[in-house]
Amino acid sequence: MKEFFDITKPIIIAHRGANLLAPENTLEAFSLAYEMGVDWVECDVVLTADGIPVILHDRSLWRTARKRVRIDTLNYDVLKDYNVGRYFSKNYKHTLIPRLQELLELAVKYDRGVNIEIKPAMPEYAIATAKQSWQVIAPYIDRIPILVSSFEEAALHWYRENAPKVKLGYLMSSWHTHWQETAKSLNAVSIHCHEKLLNPKHLSALKLSGYIVLAYTVNDVAHAQTLWAMGVDGFFSDDPKLLD
Ligand code: G3P
Ligand code: MG
Repeated sequence: MKEFFDITKPIIIAHRGANLLAPENTLEAFSLAYEMGVDWVECDVVLTADGIPVILHDRSLWRTARKRVRIDTLNYDVLKDYNVGRYFSKNYKHTLIPRLQELLELAVKYDRGVNIEIKPAMPEYAIATAKQSWQVIAPYIDRIPILVSSFEEAALHWYRENAPKVKLGYLMSSWHTHWQETAKSLNAVSIHCHEKLLNPKHLSALKLSGYIVLAYTVNDVAHAQTLWAMGVDGFFSDDPKLLD
């Protein structure tokens, strides 16, 4: 297995895969990102009604599948035939919602990393989503770099207690005054921040505490270069070639 983070250069994590060039969170977008050279892809993981971890960002299937239905009300057997490529382009006629396991198999094939963002459809599903995802992730943990993150702290705490080998990333969309104690109690390796939070004061506090700092979502080259010069270690980007 490759080293976890290569910090000799900016870490680029393809956000939902190469989603500017292929439908987001699909095997097509993930393979393309790996083909374009990134070491990491990011995906959003949610449970179907019957508890299968699948990759989808929104709770509703309207934006990507044109179905007015919520993911947590559908069994996998129904969901597996939904097309999530046509919203992007008519060329994607057979593009389906991947199971988490399918992405992990793809990552093994390319020998690259996966950032699995646990994204429960409702906050009360945080533990179930963590548990069911771990069932899928466990066989891969020593085979490829896997980084689990979530906005739901309960999901991360579940991982810390039940899956001690898993590396965790702590996500912040707004500045949490309790970030330091939470990240420490999770033994997080990285902090994933909305790029707007990364002013010099916040960044120096994060770096002084020894964390890898990743900014999301950065698609502007000049902005990425400024953040890198300030000490940010890497970027979630819709463009896998952001800094090439
Ligand atoms: O994990 C980083 C980023 O993906 C968080 O925001 O809404 O794109 O999942 P979102
Ligand atoms: Mg995400």
